Amino acid sequence: MRFPTDVLRVLTDPRTVISGDLVRIPFEIDRVVYEQVNSVLKAMSGKWDGRKAVRGHVFPYRIEEFMRHCLAAGEYPSKNEQGWFPTPPSLVTQIVDLAGVHAGMTVLEPSAGSGAMTAEIAKRGGVVDAVEIDSRRADLLREQGDSRRVMQGDFLDLDPLDYAEGFDRVVMNPPFSNGLDHIKHAIGFMKDDGILVSIMSQGLMWWSDKASTEFREVVEEVGGEIEVLPDDSFAACGTSIRTCLVFLPGYAGGPLRTHDWLSRQPCQLDLFAA
Ligand SMILES: C[S@@+](CC[C@H](N)C(=O)[O-])C[C@H]1O[C@@H](n2cnc3c(N)ncnc32)[C@H](O)[C@@H]1O
Repeated sequence: MRFPTDVLRVLTDPRTVISGDLVRIPFEIDRVVYEQVNSVLKAMSGKWDGRKAVRGHVFPYRIEEFMRHCLAAGEYPSKNEQGWFPTPPSLVTQIVDLAGVHAGMTVLEPSAGSGAMTAEIAKRGGVVDAVEIDSRRADLLREQGDSRRVMQGDFLDLDPLDYAEGFDRVVMNPPFSNGLDHIKHAIGFMKDDGILVSIMSQGLMWWSDKASTEFREVVEEVGGEIEVLPDDSFAACGTSIRTCLVFLPGYAGGPLRTHDWLSRQPCQLDLFAA
């Protein structure tokens, strides 16, 4: 959802305090604008605390970093925004640690949002390519300047073989609605000895459809893991979705159709050459 202009003006006012789990507006604002601010902060899971020492909206988690992403993007998550839920900072650290991103590694972030993960990857010296379908968020990623390349478009339409080489790492938090399609497609962008780490809806751990069942078998076969994340992992951005973390290491000769695997396949013309 876009922030109404007046709400954005108030929240980006240097006098507004956004710190820890608190948003406080210590100056007079028009009643109508106050109502708008109040309803936005409530939609973001803030609760008014009128006690003298607080007098602000208190959030169940640290709102500071999350609000920074929202204000920069000019919007806050809603179900209609192609599943934009910025990954909270502690989870970003956990994912990038698990992926083992080191300086000089190439990393793909195929649903990069407003750059919560690209920032951390770049901080560790990773060379990150970002893909994002939403043009405003893609512009934001370019402004942030963490990524070697920002591609605005549908990741599922990208052809892995348009890239000369696979990536050392893929880290992702794809839209929850079709996350598994994103993960399966992303495997085609990783090297044989690469690692993919993704947040996914927890349903992946028990869904009984063919795609989910086969995927769990593949994860087991390659020595990967699917780990439950705490229920409140995304509460800070106003969603109670239950999530898990997928860890997928590649290896040559395994069942994963990595970039190297795709590159090894004979092309149609070669088949007729003999
Ligand atoms: C759950 S958010 C995660 C954002 C970011 N990865 C993070 O961790 O903060 C998913 C993002 O994927 C983007 N997205 C949705 N469908 C996409 C697609 N087909 N191709 C690329 N990006 C997509 C959404 O616009 C949204 O910004």
